[in-house]
Amino acid sequence: MTDNNPRHIGIILDGNGRWAKKRHMPRTYGHKKGSERVFDIVRYCNELGIKYLTLYAFSTENWKRPKDEVNFLMNLISVFINDKLDEIHRQNCKLRVLGDTSILPSSAIEYIERAKKKTENNTGLNLNIAINYGGRDEIVKAVKDIIKEGIDPSNIDEDTISNHLYTKGMPDPDLIIRTGGEIRISNFLIYQLAYSEFYFTEVLWPDFDREQLDLAIENYKHRFRRFGGLK
Ligand code: IPE
Ligand code: IPE
Ligand code: MG
Repeated sequence: MTDNNPRHIGIILDGNGRWAKKRHMPRTYGHKKGSERVFDIVRYCNELGIKYLTLYAFSTENWKRPKDEVNFLMNLISVFINDKLDEIHRQNCKLRVLGDTSILPSSAIEYIERAKKKTENNTGLNLNIAINYGGRDEIVKAVKDIIKEGIDPSNIDEDTISNHLYTKGMPDPDLIIRTGGEIRISNFLIYQLAYSEFYFTEVLWPDFDREQLDLAIENYKHRFRRFGGLK
C-alpha cells in the first residue's frame, strides 16, 4: 500500500431503491442486491490494506420509511452480520457498530454483540457498520456523556468531543464516498468529516464494484489536502 492511500474510507451506500425501481422491482429487492455487494467491498478494502471502513447502513432518519421497508432492512442487516461473521473473522476484520443499538430488534443486538466479541482482537481491517446512526444524535450523546462525567468546561477541547463519539480512537475519514448520485451528507459522520475528501458517484450501490472503488481511490490520490495550511 502506498502512503497516499486513504486510511479511513466512509461509504454512504445509497441508491438501492432506485436500482430496483429501474427494474420494476420492489425497493426491498434493491436492498437485497445492495447487501450482496457489501462483503466484496469489505474484502477488497482489506486486500488494499485500508485500515478503516465505515459503511452507512441505516440512519436515525430512516425510521421514517414504511414499516415493511424498515423491518426488511433491520432483518437484512442483522442477517448480514450473522451470516458473514465467520468470513469477517477469517479475514481478520474487527467489526464495530456505530449508532444507538439499544432500540434495535433483540436478535440484531445479539448478533452484533457476538460479532464484536468474536472479532475484537483482530488486526486487519476495522469494519464499522453505522446502524441507527446519526451524526447529530452522536454529538448530543457525546455532550450528555461529557456532562455526566463531570468534565470541567475549561478542560473540554476538540479531542474531548472526538473521544466521546462512536469513532473514539479511530482516525477521521480521509475519503467519503456516496453512491446513488445525491450530493449530500445525510447526517453521516458530521463531526469527523471536517477535513475529509468527498467522492460522489452516480453509480447506484448495487452496481458499485471493485473497479468503482479503484476509481474513487485514484481520484482521492490526486487531491491536494492542505488542512488549512499552505504546503
Ligand atoms: C439504500 O438506498 C440506503 C439505505 C437507507 C439503506 P435507498 O433505500 O436510500 O435507495 P434510494 O436512495 O431510494 O434509491
Ligand atoms: C443516507 O441515505 C442514509 C444511508 C445510506 C443509510 P438516504 O437515502 O436515507 O438519504 P436521503 O434521505 O436521500 O438524504
Ligand atoms: Mg436513498
